[in-house]
Amino acid sequence: MSEPVGGLSAFGPGKIIVIGEHAAVYGEPVLAGAIAHGVTARAVPGAPGIELSANLEPAQFEALQRAYAAASKGAPLRVRVTSDLPIGVGLGSSAALSVAVARLLLQARGKKFGVPDVLKLAAVMEGEFHGTPSGVDHTTSARGELILYRKGGPTKAVKAKKPLRVVVAQAGVRTATKTTVAGLRERRTRWPKRYKRLFHEIGTLASEGAKAVTRGDLAELGDLMNVNHGLLWAMQLSSERIDAVVRRLRALGAHGAKLTGAGGDGGSVIGLFDDPTDAIERLTADGVQCFESPL
Ligand code: MEV
Repeated sequence: MSEPVGGLSAFGPGKIIVIGEHAAVYGEPVLAGAIAHGVTARAVPGAPGIELSANLEPAQFEALQRAYAAASKGAPLRVRVTSDLPIGVGLGSSAALSVAVARLLLQARGKKFGVPDVLKLAAVMEGEFHGTPSGVDHTTSARGELILYRKGGPTKAVKAKKPLRVVVAQAGVRTATKTTVAGLRERRTRWPKRYKRLFHEIGTLASEGAKAVTRGDLAELGDLMNVNHGLLWAMQLSSERIDAVVRRLRALGAHGAKLTGAGGDGGSVIGLFDDPTDAIERLTADGVQCFESPL
């Protein structure tokens, strides 16, 4: 493998939405945190452009090329992207990629930069991957911490009184976020009053969740996550596969469990535990892909 040009290399972490996905698109608060897994972008010798070690569908490959062209504006840089984050399962892989590449491009310019610069450039790329992103994914990745985010509003860092130990478990492949968000938008356009009420309730759960985190009240946070999952389910954003994993995590002793990210037919499910060691062992023994992520 070739060495990075001038040692340039940058990382973007993946994310977990603890409470508030989808409602975030409509301006409600959302509680989300960065995880240890993520995407690394390295400058390598070669013609300007971007390459990825994972296999992508043709449409995803084209979106990646468009996103890189929009952000790099012809910078003479060849970027190789590697990831230890499962792709397309609701853990913010496109945002992590956008943040890693944005950081690399800013490093290559050789000027000082900060989080606002990373956010601006990463947003250009995220816009190519998603139709109407709320911005929570790339903001969480760029800040690398637990946050209460609101589209167009100030982002607040949320300091946990007790460590949050979360199991992230896979519930199989899912359709693209863009498609799930668009389907929900149709239902919301048809029945605006009801969906406004539901989104507002989810935003309230997210704000209450941030307070429970700062108080170290894991039981309340778990209950808020369970209620959030119920509302996502009511909006047709869950599936039998997702619900089976949610039930399993609760049976294994989670304070709360829910889908995370766009949901739909598959993707990722999270469970909040005091100590997830036993749950991870048992899920792994049953062939469920999972890992622990401290937040
Ligand atoms: C995707 O990780 C989260 C969604 O709320 C979309 C968004 O906020 O852009 C489903």
